[in-house]
Amino acid sequence: MSGAQRLIRSYVRRERPFKESQKADWERLWPRYGVPRAAWGSVVAAAPVILDIGFGDGEALMGIAAADSAHTYMGVEMYRSGLLKVMRGAEHAHLPNVRVVEADANEVLAALPADSLAGAHVFFPDPWPKARHHKRRLVTAAFIAALVRVLRPGGIIHMATDWENYAAEAAQLFRTFAVLEPLAPERNGRPETRFERRGWRLGHSSYDLRYRRLP
Ligand SMILES: C[S@@+](CC[C@H](N)C(=O)[O-])C[C@H]1O[C@@H](n2cnc3c(N)ncnc32)[C@H](O)[C@@H]1O
Repeated sequence: MSGAQRLIRSYVRRERPFKESQKADWERLWPRYGVPRAAWGSVVAAAPVILDIGFGDGEALMGIAAADSAHTYMGVEMYRSGLLKVMRGAEHAHLPNVRVVEADANEVLAALPADSLAGAHVFFPDPWPKARHHKRRLVTAAFIAALVRVLRPGGIIHMATDWENYAAEAAQLFRTFAVLEPLAPERNGRPETRFERRGWRLGHSSYDLRYRRLP
C-alpha cells in the first residue's frame, strides 16, 4: 500500500466529549470488556473469535453474541459512544463472550496472527454513496486480502449492505479470491440494526454476502 493510499480513511470522527457518567462507566467497564492492543493476539488464541468490524451501536453484535455462547465476539470500532454502548449492554445482558477494541479495523487485521479468526462480520459499512468518495469504502481488495490472511480455514466472512452498487462491487472483489468459497447469500440470523432500517426507509434492500475460507 502506498503512503497516499494509507491516508484514505473509511470513517470520519465527530463525537461529543463524554459526560461524567459516561467517563465513569468507561473506566469501570473497559478493564472487563476492552481489549488493549497488546492483548489482541491472546484473545484470539484463547477462544474461537468472530470479529465484528465497525459494529456501530452494537445491536447485531450483542444479539448474535447472546445467541451464540460458543464464540467470542470481538467488536472493532472507532466510535466511542458505540464502544461504551456495547460495554454497558454486555454488562446488562450478562454477555461474557463480548469484547471490544478501539481501533481502525485495518490496523487490527494487520496485527492479528495468520489463521487466527473463526469469522468476521462487516455489517453495513459506511456506504460513501458519492462516486468520488467510493475510494473511502472499507471493503477493498486490500481489506479482503487482510481478512483472508487472518481467517482460519473454514472461517466465514459475512458482509451486509443496503447499497446495491457496494454489494456488486464487493461481490466482484470477493470473486477474485479463489480461496473464498461463496455461500448462500442469506442473512443467517443477522439481527436488524438502525442502519439497516434506515436503508429500508430509503427504499433499499439488504444484500448479504457470505464466504468460507477454504483450506
Ligand atoms: C454505518 S455504521 C454500521 C454499524 C453496524 N455495523 C450496523 O450494522 O448497524 C458503520 C460503522 O463502521 C465504523 N467504521 C468505519 N470505518 C472503520 C474502520 N476502519 N475501523 C473500525 N470501524 C470503522 C464507523 O465508525 C461506523 O460506526
